[in-house]
Amino acid sequence: MQYFIETYGCQMNVADSELVAGLLNGAGHQPTARIDEAGIILLNTCSVREKAEETVLNRLSQLAALKKRDPGTLIGVLGCTAKNLAESLLESMPFVDLVLGPDSYRRLPQIINERQTSNVHPVDTKLSRIELYEDLYPSRAASVNAWISIMRGCNKFCTFCVVPFTRGRERSRALAGIVEEARSAVGQGFQEITLLGQNVNSYRSGTDGFAQLLAAVAAVPGVRRLRFISPHPSDMGEDVLAVMAAHYNICKSIHLPLQAGADRVLRRMNRTYTKQEYLQLAARIREVLPGCTLSTDIIVGFPGETEAEFGETLEVMRQVQFDSAFTFKYSPRPGTKATEYHDPVNDAVKQARLDRLITLQKPISLRRNQQLIGSTVEVLIEKESKKSPQQWAGRTDSNKWVVFDKEWSQPGEFVNVHVDGSFGIALQGHLNSDLEALNAVA
Ligand code: SAH
Ligand code: SF4
Ligand code: F3S
Repeated sequence: MQYFIETYGCQMNVADSELVAGLLNGAGHQPTARIDEAGIILLNTCSVREKAEETVLNRLSQLAALKKRDPGTLIGVLGCTAKNLAESLLESMPFVDLVLGPDSYRRLPQIINERQTSNVHPVDTKLSRIELYEDLYPSRAASVNAWISIMRGCNKFCTFCVVPFTRGRERSRALAGIVEEARSAVGQGFQEITLLGQNVNSYRSGTDGFAQLLAAVAAVPGVRRLRFISPHPSDMGEDVLAVMAAHYNICKSIHLPLQAGADRVLRRMNRTYTKQEYLQLAARIREVLPGCTLSTDIIVGFPGETEAEFGETLEVMRQVQFDSAFTFKYSPRPGTKATEYHDPVNDAVKQARLDRLITLQKPISLRRNQQLIGSTVEVLIEKESKKSPQQWAGRTDSNKWVVFDKEWSQPGEFVNVHVDGSFGIALQGHLNSDLEALNAVA
């Protein structure tokens, strides 16, 4: 049968969808880019905030019409919402054929067969302490970047977060298998590898930690760029920074979620670092890795966050000067610890804080980008720009998007681009001829 997978949520889900595609291909099914042609439609879902879950449920309601037109089409829900809502999903969406949590994908081909011959709607959302899908090969989307998941689950239990409940306990893959997968991705033409996990730097396999893993993958011939998301500030050791400094192909760009600036809030979030420790870490990163860009995640309106505490978040943002920030309004997730906290702050105040945070960060991001105007940056070309079919879009080592006229260049190539300007979150430039680049050096 032909299948169509729609992916929501974080990069872990993107990687999981590629794993599922690999499994389905192995069972003789074929991918299609057209949902109306598909005999199997799978949504790989996210529950991290209420809105993410609503998006999934709205999408499913739309699919109900499709199912009515063509009752033979199988509709499956995978991923975090599948785990989070489990049986109740079938109650509200009885047309859904199957519900599989993140640790049950191995059974998908078999469950599809069963569903075709029986009236039962299979639900399997059991979490596993060991499932790592180590022996499975993902079917990767054509791109310059290969996602490699190095661990699954999370043990941090930040009090706002549903992930430890949807993805279960933390477990790491063996180092050798990850290195082998990187080698194979390079063989397939991928030049950039991104290592994935909910807190990649708590990776541990035998005596190997994240620093050893990074060094081993960086040493794979043909890995031109190596990235990772997301590290946790508490596990960001000197050893990791040293390995980053020692390997030119490990990108100098770190996503370091702060979440909040005030110690009392950080404690109530169970983030396990203080404002001071975070600031010291950011300073240390810039000392060891000059030019390294920093991005972050912030939650405003955590239960009981006072105006003064919110002010401390703004203060940290002013001090650190992040290159970019993903900002969220706190969204209560049933079953998490934070929902038990008293929360006298009303929604209008939370929304106003979010707006203030965005207003503060916008010019900071712009200024960080403007610092590159006039310089020449190395860009790995990824795809056509959304703005114009005459332009490519690619990223710098420091993870900034650059848009420029195609001229002679092709996706997958590294090119030198002269930065002319900055707009929105991206940079605008033009291709540098080698001569120009040489002149600039001279
Ligand atoms: N493991 C990653 C985060 C995964 S979730 C890490 O620790 O960095 C991505 C981001 O979503 C988090 O960093 C957080 O800022 C946000 N987030 C998670 N739960 C949330 C909630 N209940 N409400 C609002 N934002 C949330
Ligand atoms: Fe959630 Fe915290 Fe784990 Fe990140 S580290 S996935 S925020 S519990
Ligand atoms: Fe969402 Fe699950 Fe990722 S809740 S953010 S898809 S781990």
